[in-house]
Amino acid sequence: MAKELISVHRFINMEARKYPQATGEFSALMREIILTAKLISREVTKAGLADILGMTGDSNVHGEEVKKLDEYSHNLFTHILKYSGHVCAMASEEAEDLLLGPTYTNSGKYVVLLDPLDGSSNIDVNVSIGSIFAIYKRVSEEGKPGERRDFLQPGRDLIAAGYVIYGSSTMLVYTTGQGVHGFTLDPSIGTFVLSHPNMQVPDVCKIYSVNEGYYANWTEGMKAYVQRVKGLGPDAMEKPMSGRYIGSMVADFHRNLLRGGIFMYPGTVKKPEGKLRLMYEANPMSFVIEAAGGYASNGKQRILDIQPESLHQRTPVFLGNREEVLMVEEYLQKYDAVEA
Ligand code: AHG
Ligand code: MN
Ligand code: MN
Repeated sequence: MAKELISVHRFINMEARKYPQATGEFSALMREIILTAKLISREVTKAGLADILGMTGDSNVHGEEVKKLDEYSHNLFTHILKYSGHVCAMASEEAEDLLLGPTYTNSGKYVVLLDPLDGSSNIDVNVSIGSIFAIYKRVSEEGKPGERRDFLQPGRDLIAAGYVIYGSSTMLVYTTGQGVHGFTLDPSIGTFVLSHPNMQVPDVCKIYSVNEGYYANWTEGMKAYVQRVKGLGPDAMEKPMSGRYIGSMVADFHRNLLRGGIFMYPGTVKKPEGKLRLMYEANPMSFVIEAAGGYASNGKQRILDIQPESLHQRTPVFLGNREEVLMVEEYLQKYDAVEA
């Protein structure tokens, strides 16, 4: 018998019914994120035509200023969410400071953090990209503007997080901390449909994903761990893993979530904090991987336990199958302890 067709909106309503005290505000916020994702998805599919259709450069045929896709995604998210009435402030990888002000509803209960377009260097080569979102409940007083402390909460206090991947299909994957669910966009009806309920990290870790171009700059611990998964060195794995690296965190993460793998963006000797942002990339993806039964670490501690100090702070990231991430921690501890 065919599986039941459940739209994301019906799913969100069903989830909300589990919480009798819910006001419906979170569900409404999710609907706005979904609307934005569909609009970005539409633009992403046209990205290759940008030059022909005159969508890049300074102005379009109407004389309007036209933005690049990452700027477009940032503007769309912030525009739609600020008028939604559910957020009192936002933060985005693309904006230096907090986004707040008179157009935000001070009564909004939530703050949202965004990587509006992840993997943006891959747009021009038609490779999968994504959007990442994270939602906290504000800790400051309702009815007043949002504050920095609403954002600087550890990842374990997120109330929801997820991503949209613009790949061969567009998919939304999100969690409220219990169960990770995936929805595939049916472009013919413009609706996300539940396609991957209760996603779980597979038991076997088959894939390692890391930019090995930085090998020479890695610490001894990182080098030793990667030697191991390639089947080299004194403690080589009997059955080496496959190496897969797209260079879009969302796409690398999504494949590893489905297939079983470890994603790594380590620090280097010169740049120990790595590249990825704690608030916009590491925390939301860590929240998803842990809800799917995996684990996320900065190499020394659980990412979700880090107390953020600034909006744009960076962190090394290791996430995926629990045992493998714990193994990386062991290697870094064993070989790099002296360097630290
Ligand atoms: P963004 O496009 O949001 O700036 O993020 C790019 C990130 C991430 O998606 C990816 O994992 C990483 O950069 C790739 O970096 P390297 O090219 O250094 O491997
Ligand atoms: Mn990114
Ligand atoms: Mn980005």
